[in-house]
Amino acid sequence: MQDRHRPRYHFTAPSRWINDPNGLAFHGGRYHLYYQYNPHASHWGDIHWGHASSADLLHWQDEGIALAPSPGHDAEGCFSGCFALVGGVPTLYYTGYTQARQVQCAATSTDLRHWTKHPERAIVVPPADVAATEFRDPYVFQQGPWWYMVVGASHRSERGQVLLYRSADGLDWQYRHPLFTAPSLALGVMWECPNFFPLGDKWVLTVSIWPNLGAHAFVGRFEEERFVPASDAPLDVDAGAFAHLTLCAPDGRRLQWAWMNEQRAQERIDADGWAGAMTVPRELGLDSQARLTLRPHRELAALRQSAIPTMNSGAARSVLCRWAGRCMDMQARFVLRDKAKVGLTVLASPDGQEYTRIVYWPEARRLLIERAHSSLDRQVRRQDLHAFLLLDPGEPLQLRVLLDHSVLEVYANDRVCLATRLYPTLPDSLHAHAFAEGDTTLDLQAWDMGSIHVGEREALQTPDP
Ligand code: FRU
Repeated sequence: MQDRHRPRYHFTAPSRWINDPNGLAFHGGRYHLYYQYNPHASHWGDIHWGHASSADLLHWQDEGIALAPSPGHDAEGCFSGCFALVGGVPTLYYTGYTQARQVQCAATSTDLRHWTKHPERAIVVPPADVAATEFRDPYVFQQGPWWYMVVGASHRSERGQVLLYRSADGLDWQYRHPLFTAPSLALGVMWECPNFFPLGDKWVLTVSIWPNLGAHAFVGRFEEERFVPASDAPLDVDAGAFAHLTLCAPDGRRLQWAWMNEQRAQERIDADGWAGAMTVPRELGLDSQARLTLRPHRELAALRQSAIPTMNSGAARSVLCRWAGRCMDMQARFVLRDKAKVGLTVLASPDGQEYTRIVYWPEARRLLIERAHSSLDRQVRRQDLHAFLLLDPGEPLQLRVLLDHSVLEVYANDRVCLATRLYPTLPDSLHAHAFAEGDTTLDLQAWDMGSIHVGEREALQTPDP
């Protein structure tokens, strides 16, 4: 709690390094979140699976280590994968990693904490045109009479591909063919962490792009064991969030988590002793044009503490109102009357040395996070992030901004999200204001947020604006 960069309502491991969410499940009345975990250092390496569980999607209890590397297929790491209930048996599918090759492995459990590996079930050799070192991250689902597994791959080390396997019992797998291959080389050399699931009457494929480190979503049909996309769009840009994975909640909602990497020097990370955070769970949907929609899960509102008073500047332009905080949920609705920029400034120091701007620029149809002045620490990544956002005529700009110490997630009109990390250095870099360069009307609400860690009773203080 002394660490000013450590998130309070975004999931982090008890200590050390995390990356991808893995094995998401709702089982036995609880949600389970597994994750790529290095228990020994705050950098990537020696990859285990960590485990946490929750009854309410808000408060997470640490469940210890679920999978650890051991002699055999996963001697050098237990890479990403998924959970499936196969014939009533909780099963993890994951990639066993060694420098020489990547193997799709299975493990079973009765209590979801202790896992028995089944090396005899492994898919050891990839299909032709896929290198043994570019073959990972299985995701398993049931459709009709079959179990299917999709695996991330690179076709001839040139372009991203998702491979499709099929099984009658979830134990013994046959390779079918590629489910889908990147239509363009611009979509990276390899696709990691494919997630393929039904949503409404469509199917959605999300992939994480290597080496560009963004994520992309396709919406389409699943026909004759092939994916036929009808539309696609970036899901997260510029390494903001990565390795997206979903589960289906008992009420039918499709919830998605992704990993947010650190964006600062390793020596600073080592000093703090932890690295990486998860996005809040996102509720996915489709709009009337069958485009993917995403918004923070509805349970999050229960963490809102007091409403933060905002001071109205009285002006119709420039600074509209001011408030302050480092751990907030904010909702802003701008009615735009021209094409001038509007937005929010957060984590600003009173002397103007540090600040981060969330900007919507209607003329350019761009949503931006401007990080150039986000930190005086010269080793922090400070380039801008941007996403395409076209508003319909008369449609207001609706921003939902989750600020949680070093984590910033910006959702716009339920269809675009920018996520990133911020590390201001000055003790008073906690001021916020809303601004408009043209003519606009703003409705704004902001709340202090509580902590998600079981057992923590943190008194969050609201500084005066
Ligand atoms: C994605 C990824 C996966 C791999 C895991 C290793 O971030 O590279 O492809 O399974 O991380 O930790």
